[in-house]
Amino acid sequence: MPLLTTTEAGVPIQGPSATLIYDDWYPALRTDQLLKGKLVTAMLLGIPLVLGRRHDGRVFAMRDSCPHRGIPLSYGWFDGNHVTCRYHGWEFEPCSGRCELIPSLSTHDHLDATKIYASAYPCEERDGHAWVYVPGPGSGKRAQGVELRPVPELAKFGPRYRTAFLTADLPCNVDHGIIGLMDPAHGPFVHQAWWWRSRASIREKTKKFEPIAEGFRMSAHAPSANSAPYKLLGVYGQPVETTIDFVLPNRRTEIIRAGDKWFSSLTTVTPVTASTCRIDVIAAWNVFYWVPFLTPIAKFFGAKFVRQDQETMIQQAEGLRHNPSLMLIDDADKPAKWYFALKQARLDGIEKHPMDGPVELHWRS
Ligand code: FES
Ligand SMILES: [Fe+2]
Repeated sequence: MPLLTTTEAGVPIQGPSATLIYDDWYPALRTDQLLKGKLVTAMLLGIPLVLGRRHDGRVFAMRDSCPHRGIPLSYGWFDGNHVTCRYHGWEFEPCSGRCELIPSLSTHDHLDATKIYASAYPCEERDGHAWVYVPGPGSGKRAQGVELRPVPELAKFGPRYRTAFLTADLPCNVDHGIIGLMDPAHGPFVHQAWWWRSRASIREKTKKFEPIAEGFRMSAHAPSANSAPYKLLGVYGQPVETTIDFVLPNRRTEIIRAGDKWFSSLTTVTPVTASTCRIDVIAAWNVFYWVPFLTPIAKFFGAKFVRQDQETMIQQAEGLRHNPSLMLIDDADKPAKWYFALKQARLDGIEKHPMDGPVELHWRS
């Protein structure tokens, strides 16, 4: 079942916008799209990008705009070493953005082409994502020189594992995408399904949370016995421990371990524009890794799960178009409150954490 796109659902790509966090890594696209000599476009934080892979294997991301007259560089050519603009043929080295040739220059010109740069952003490949470091507006090429935060990476606990990936466009801004992701109370309503859990299984939950750098952790615990994926892990008869972290700007990591078996996922909600976002999930596990069917099975269940979130958010976007006033309640919306406080601290450039120590939250789900 394909995931819906916003156009199919008839929802205009419009809605309240969110303030964006720059100077951090965001996944732009899957690197299996970066075929030899191909330029692929993507959009991050409202910035049009063109990505590719050099002959030597390195991935790159440039602003999809020629510094000469602004035509998208993606209309040009890429020979594996240089991106050539289709308008006047300027040639750029794509990792640095440096212009290496201006064909129109004559022997009478004294212009040094190599002093000219197209905007190129730091770009790294991890877990099949091309992660792009998006500098703040105005900081332009500066990001090339500064000390960057580490590139996000999925945690793995051994050399042998299987992986899966899925993605879905969400017609809402990144804040709604993120608080939807961390919201514990929608599960029984949005994700009720025979294989997952039914609404009748709602019961009171107590979860421990603790502050971590720029985020919070739902502390290790035996996960809900009433959810199918955990039952799957439970067959090993080992105590199951789960840790779920959220860290700015947009990352949720979940690690489930039972003895030497593990499942790990990294979910990101990335602003495509100020008013739209995209959810990407990558997962790895060594549970049943010898069973050939597990990858498609996990993909099927995962896709259905994300599709349910996506359908709900498309419906929510219909309501958000009219700018309603909204509310956050205790305790089920507490993580959302922490998120907004952490984000504000980051935007203000101050180190301030909304939690002063571990807390217990209670809700029914
Ligand atoms: S617009 Fe790109 S070379 Fe002139
Ligand atoms: Fe959900």
